[in-house]
Amino acid sequence: MHVALTGAAGRVASGIRPLLLARGWELVLLDVDAPAELASGERFVAADVRDGSALRRAFAGVDGVVHLGGVPSERSWDVIHDVNVLGTRAVLEAMVDAGVHRLFHASSVHASGFEPADAPTLAAPSDSFYGVGKLAAEAMVSVYADRFGLSAVSARIASYGPQPANVRALAMWLSPGDAARLVAAALTWDGPGHAVVWGVSANTRSPLDPEPGRAIGYHPLDDAEAHAHTVAPAGEEPLDRLGAGFCVRPLGIRGGR
Ligand SMILES: NC(=O)c1ccc[n+]([C@@H]2O[C@H](COP(=O)([O-])OP(=O)(O)OC[C@H]3O[C@@H](n4cnc5c(N)ncnc54)[C@H](O)[C@@H]3O)[C@@H](O)[C@H]2O)c1
Repeated sequence: MHVALTGAAGRVASGIRPLLLARGWELVLLDVDAPAELASGERFVAADVRDGSALRRAFAGVDGVVHLGGVPSERSWDVIHDVNVLGTRAVLEAMVDAGVHRLFHASSVHASGFEPADAPTLAAPSDSFYGVGKLAAEAMVSVYADRFGLSAVSARIASYGPQPANVRALAMWLSPGDAARLVAAALTWDGPGHAVVWGVSANTRSPLDPEPGRAIGYHPLDDAEAHAHTVAPAGEEPLDRLGAGFCVRPLGIRGGR
């Protein structure tokens, strides 16, 4: 596979790139910032996700796109709309122009972050402008998938990291290995159409339904429970809703990251 990644200098991309290269994939890396290092099989193109002509050139000849680029947490609605919603639309337009039909779209649990933490569904409600932006981007992906015959997967990533970072992540963790398995499943899923799945590992404590993921061929192997002894006790963050602290922090104000 010859695959383009947006947001290629970011945390998720940096974790999965070696694992995708190990599958024999060749990667075109797109970001506004250059990745720290390039491996054999990787090529960097400086490109903003809102720059349609740069995207179109970079997508020529690729088999699929992994869309990770954008803002990864709460910001003003103007920023979320500009980068995450319009940026996703620009990615979709460029894919259609370049004749690319497979997409992995990094959505977020915050798209449905106001769901109860113990029994969440894929339904809205969102918990923040960030969550609304992911939901709007998913809707945009649906339109392009249906209109242009794309096979597209939006993964509502829960909590990505090398290890689970806190008590919430014992339920929500997505390991680098499973993130790579999820991307590989998404880009080999034949669709056509738009599937929405949870981006989570096989955590003993996960309340997230594994069935949508299984339906596209995603079979996670890692379990945060193996790291439970390394995790600090729960802090002040409310854990009754899926989006945790996002549900109570002021709208539009950058928190945490
Ligand atoms: N890390 C998680 O736990 C998590 C959870 C849910 C969803 N996600 C989603 O996964 C994706 C990647 O997250 P991450 O943790 O790697 O974030 P990150 O901030 O580490 O990486 C995002 C990358 O996008 C790039 N970027 C930002 N604006 C851009 C623009 N206008 N044009 C081109 N590139 C731009 C940044 O330079 C950065 O390298 C994001 O879409 C995020 O919303 C991540």
